[in-house]
Amino acid sequence: MLVTLKEILAIAEERKIAVGSFNTPNLASLRAILAAAEELNQPVILMHAQIHEEMGLCTMEEVAPIMLTAAKKASVPVCVHLDHGTDVDYVKRGLELGFTGVMFDGSALPTEENFAKTKEVVTLAKETGASVEAEIGSMGSREGGNAGDMDNPESIYTDPDAAKRFVDETGIDALACAFGTVHGLYLKEPKLDFARLEKIDSLVSVPLVMHGGSGVSEEDYRRVISLGVAKINYYTYMAKAGAEAINGKTFGQYHEIVKAATEAMKADVAKAIRVFSGLK
Ligand code: 13P
Repeated sequence: MLVTLKEILAIAEERKIAVGSFNTPNLASLRAILAAAEELNQPVILMHAQIHEEMGLCTMEEVAPIMLTAAKKASVPVCVHLDHGTDVDYVKRGLELGFTGVMFDGSALPTEENFAKTKEVVTLAKETGASVEAEIGSMGSREGGNAGDMDNPESIYTDPDAAKRFVDETGIDALACAFGTVHGLYLKEPKLDFARLEKIDSLVSVPLVMHGGSGVSEEDYRRVISLGVAKINYYTYMAKAGAEAINGKTFGQYHEIVKAATEAMKADVAKAIRVFSGLK
């Protein structure tokens, strides 16, 4: 069933779990994610990332109706979310298409501009009933980039006091914060700043979101969930699992490639959902 971001995060908070939030740049990934969530009977967030469209994958207009139809038919709560919308017009188009959650990512903007544009998105989302996630501090690299190449990452981590002011003044429903994870493949083991996360959680009233969720240890997933993270964004390692299922093999027909990759992505997503949901 289709639900808003706020509704699905309330389920997560009540159950003390994190909802897995996975990107859907094509039908294979969407089907893999939903099959895993339904099999495990867990809520899930489907995300269209603006950057995937920029990389030549599905456009928002192509994929949103498919995401929404699938979410409505699903046996588990599903939020249809826009991931890293970096311009207000794009987010507005997403709201018009029916996304039930949108992320406005103004993290690369000067602080006051991030505040102003995030407020604008919150006002727009009220008209459709969608919920808003936004980010303060920065992850350093966006999807498609490789992690571990930053000189001084702490300098761009989320500042707890700034996070409180951001949430209070903008009225967002979920806060994406930077505390050591990064998008893409990890070139060195992530070192998460748990003290910073704990401080943010103590000051901020809304659920927290961890981006760059691929490649984090099971122990660290559990720890961030105990410190207020209710949504974990995860894509790179599921896409890697899909590639590994076909690399070096020979297939007679294209649909066999899609099937093998879908099954491998489903297995990887199921593994992630199990950990995020505290399942054995
Ligand atoms: P990964 O690249 O670590 O899978 O993170 C995905 C993400 O955060 C999407 O917003």
